[in-house]
Amino acid sequence: MKITVVGTGYVGLVTGTCLAETGNDVLCVDIDKNKVAKMQNGEVPIYEPHLDILFERNINAGRLKFTTELEEGLTHGQIIFLALPTPEDEDGSADLSYVLGVAENIGKLMTDYKVIVDKSTVPVGTAEKVTAVVAKHATVDFDVVSNPEFLREGFAVDDFLKPERIVIGSSSEKATQLMERLYKPFVRSGNPIIIMDEKSAELTKYAANSFLATKITFMNEIANFCEKVGADVDKVRIGMGTDSRIGKRFLFPGIGYGGSCFPKDVKALHKSGKDNLYNFQILDAVINVNNKQKTALIPKVVSHLGEDLSGKTIAIWGLAFKPETDDIREAPSLYIIDELLSRGATLKAFDPEAMDNVQRKLGDKITYADSMYDAIENTDALIICTEWSIFRTPNFQKLRENLKAPIIFDGRNLYDIAEMEKEGFTYFSIGRKNVL
Ligand code: UDX
Repeated sequence: MKITVVGTGYVGLVTGTCLAETGNDVLCVDIDKNKVAKMQNGEVPIYEPHLDILFERNINAGRLKFTTELEEGLTHGQIIFLALPTPEDEDGSADLSYVLGVAENIGKLMTDYKVIVDKSTVPVGTAEKVTAVVAKHATVDFDVVSNPEFLREGFAVDDFLKPERIVIGSSSEKATQLMERLYKPFVRSGNPIIIMDEKSAELTKYAANSFLATKITFMNEIANFCEKVGADVDKVRIGMGTDSRIGKRFLFPGIGYGGSCFPKDVKALHKSGKDNLYNFQILDAVINVNNKQKTALIPKVVSHLGEDLSGKTIAIWGLAFKPETDDIREAPSLYIIDELLSRGATLKAFDPEAMDNVQRKLGDKITYADSMYDAIENTDALIICTEWSIFRTPNFQKLRENLKAPIIFDGRNLYDIAEMEKEGFTYFSIGRKNVL
């Protein structure tokens, strides 16, 4: 099938590349000339595992192309995916100006039937708005479909190629059939393509992300309470998660959720509630608890090293908001760094992928280390912000030798309490007893 993807951000690029992988002829449109030139030369603009291999393969096969011209995109594809940014407005709502701006141009430029697909995470009622804007200018027939993505960063290619479900919000039989044909190769395992109305599809995305953010936040509160009463959240987590109604996943406490989706989507659903005279009290609590949780390690650092950290050098392992990504949007590490700097600490950080992004944001406010062991050399303590695999089984002897004192503040509960006791570390984690 001939597909056009407008917007080559994270979602657009993964969508375009994976659709090309199943034999579709994909043209990606982006206004950023530099980026398009780089992609035409085979350069992948983001870090995402496996994307580079698929990207190269499909460009070489002539199934994946790039342009800056929307008009060319509209001549090319019968299905037009909109994978455009929906940044957070000052009041927390999603800014639809990119989506509606492109919709207007599509209306003006379209010369034959198109299915216009909202792939971006958009508030309930957006398909209706896009339809109205396109219809204002269109001279030919078209349909608007809502098709939210459920891609996790770091697993996006896998999630796209083997989705647990595809959600399609459509009220047109013709558009539904085209979308089903497009997605059939991805659900051969029997996973469902769920067809519903546009508004329900739009809400499904927000509800799913907000539910997961709530699940994590609930566990973070349980963890905080465990510390008050002397319980161990790891035990509680396993005890709870083995109930199949609860499930084992997304129960890991830590220093809060971050990234480009959860924080923005929870706020947007909360705001959308307000706009429709509904007060999502639970989301209010989730937002507040998560904001606080990002700096949950700070009172522990202060209690052990003192309020004034001038003269102290602290190592930080992990800057990305989660492993397997270079994304630092809403990363808890940034909030922790901010707090530590304001108390006068000197910081040395290491992250396998995200250091360039942090350097662009923070410049020389902190030092960037060449390796995880280089980061801890001559430091007073280690703080762990991201659970990259390489941090899971470090050489503890090397840690003891390099750190001035063997102190670890672990925001991701990477190590066994018993092991830390045996290895002679002073160890603080989340929702478990301190090893002193
Ligand atoms: C999420 C959704 O999973 C995905 O379906 C949606 O399309 C986009 O948002 P992503 O932001 O890439 O994906 O990351 P995810 O792996 O879901 O983690 C989100 C955040 O929750 C991270 O900050 C992570 O550290 C945190 N988290 C996750 C926890 O704190 N505990 C957990 O148990 C799981």
